[in-house]
Amino acid sequence: MANSIAEHARTLFIAGLRDAHAMERQAQEMLERQISRLRHYPRVEDRLRTHLQETAEQIRRLDEALTVVGEGRSALKDIAMSVAGDMTALLNALSGDAIVKNSLANYAFEHFEIASYESLLAMAEAAKQTSCIGLLRPSLHEERAMADWLADNLREVTLRHLELSAENIEASR
Ligand SMILES: [Fe+2]
Repeated sequence: MANSIAEHARTLFIAGLRDAHAMERQAQEMLERQISRLRHYPRVEDRLRTHLQETAEQIRRLDEALTVVGEGRSALKDIAMSVAGDMTALLNALSGDAIVKNSLANYAFEHFEIASYESLLAMAEAAKQTSCIGLLRPSLHEERAMADWLADNLREVTLRHLELSAENIEASR
C-alpha cells in the first residue's frame, strides 16, 4: 500500500517536474523580451538579467531532477504547455510594452513559480525522492527573493513610469 502511494506520488512528481520545466522556459522568454526594452529602468534591467541567469540554472536543476527520477531530457520534447502556458497567455494578455503592467505580470508569475516549487517539494517528499529536494529548494528561494524584490520596487517603478510619461506629454506640446 505504502509503495503504491509512493509510486503514484512519483508519477505526479515527474509530471510536475515537466510542467515546471515548461514554466521556466516561459519565464526565460518573458524575461528576455522585457530586458530588451528596459533602458529607462536600469535597476529593473539589472535585476531581471540576474533572474534570467537564475532561471537558466533552475532549468538545469529541473533537468537534473528529471534525470534523477529516471526521465531524461528526451522525455521533455513533447511537453504540453499546460498550466504554465495558460498562465503565460493570461499574463501576455495583461502585459505589453508598459513597464507597470509587466511588473504586475512578473509578480503574479513569480508567485505561480513559488507555488509550483512548494508543491514539487511536497511531492518529492511523498515520492521519497529526497535527492531532488536539494535541487528544488534553491530555486524556491530564488523565486521568493525575486517576488520580494518586485514587491519592494513596484512603487518606485510606477512613479518613474508616471514621471517619464509626463515628460513625453510635455515634449509633445
Ligand atoms: Fe522566477
